Amino acid sequence: MSRVLVTGAAGLLGRFVVDELLQQGHVVRGFDRKAGDADIQWQIGDVTDADAVKATVQGMDAVLHIAAIPNIWSGDGATIMRVNVLGTHNVFNAAEEQGIPRVVFCSSDSVAGYTVREGRMLPPRYAPLDLAHPLNATDPYAVSKVLGEDLARAYALRGMSVVALRTVFVAYPEMFAEIVERAKDPDNYRGPAVGGPSSAGGGPLHHHIDARDLARAFRLALELPMQRGDFERFYLSSNVTLSPEPTLERLERLHGDAVEVRDPECYRQNPFAPLYDLTHARKRLGFVPEYNHRHLLAGLPEFES
Ligand SMILES: NC(=O)c1ccc[n+]([C@@H]2O[C@H](COP(=O)([O-])OP(=O)(O)OC[C@H]3O[C@@H](n4cnc5c(N)ncnc54)[C@H](O)[C@@H]3O)[C@@H](O)[C@H]2O)c1
Repeated sequence: MSRVLVTGAAGLLGRFVVDELLQQGHVVRGFDRKAGDADIQWQIGDVTDADAVKATVQGMDAVLHIAAIPNIWSGDGATIMRVNVLGTHNVFNAAEEQGIPRVVFCSSDSVAGYTVREGRMLPPRYAPLDLAHPLNATDPYAVSKVLGEDLARAYALRGMSVVALRTVFVAYPEMFAEIVERAKDPDNYRGPAVGGPSSAGGGPLHHHIDARDLARAFRLALELPMQRGDFERFYLSSNVTLSPEPTLERLERLHGDAVEVRDPECYRQNPFAPLYDLTHARKRLGFVPEYNHRHLLAGLPEFES
């Protein structure tokens, strides 16, 4: 049992992470600009306020840093940089000052550079894409997560143990209708079209992960045996995409032969396997996704049930 600070605890993901931690017997404090519904201690503040962050980390054993501007559409570049980079600096700095040994940073698959058209989206060099692949972020949100990981690594080098979770688009229940709407006409979908909090995401391959799976990954990262000074990164996704086309067919249609297929067997066994290599997450973190949401698309033209 640990005392865990969750930043962004009132958000779409934060509430799932808080539930997961409470179920596993951890004691949780939530820090956010607003209070959430969970019956935990709430501290209201802004991650860009260094003093507020210093106050909220006091007495904690670990921090899960989830608060952020969560995508390129939710803020301008300056706001994204201020909240996501300065906020992350404040969290790591305060945690180090308090001698907190473990911080888990919510990163994004966008660090690899293959998620949104607003950047100069470069095709991945190879599939499955693993931790050795270069980071080709080209938009402010993705760059803010690269810089966040740089901060994470710096604090690990100084003696913390730090985990960065590179999650794909999270299929929250609030996003289900958007996911179905996009699937009806992917080329013309310009969401949010049916009341979702944001557009259905996941990049050209329509990646997704279930919020319960992602919350479990945060808990596993919190509990992962690590030495001080260790820095771990994990790509996280469900084991299938929400795309109408199998992954290799789609990559070939979009990018010709630009993407080297390094493990064809993986895609033969699971044609809708994600671009991202989940082997490291399985072996080191013990993370295997339990859920996927292809069932939402059953019956739609071009989707296999
Ligand atoms: N939603 C996705 O598909 C997705 C994909 C990859 C990564 N992420 C990351 O997941 C995390 C959670 O995002 P979400 O989907 O729950 O979005 P969200 O907007 O619901 O949650 C973000 C939370 O952070 C809080 N927050 C924002 N700015 C803050 C500030 N300045 N000070 C304090 N709190 C602040 C918000 O109030 C909110 O509760 C983010 O780090 C995001 O970058 C999300």
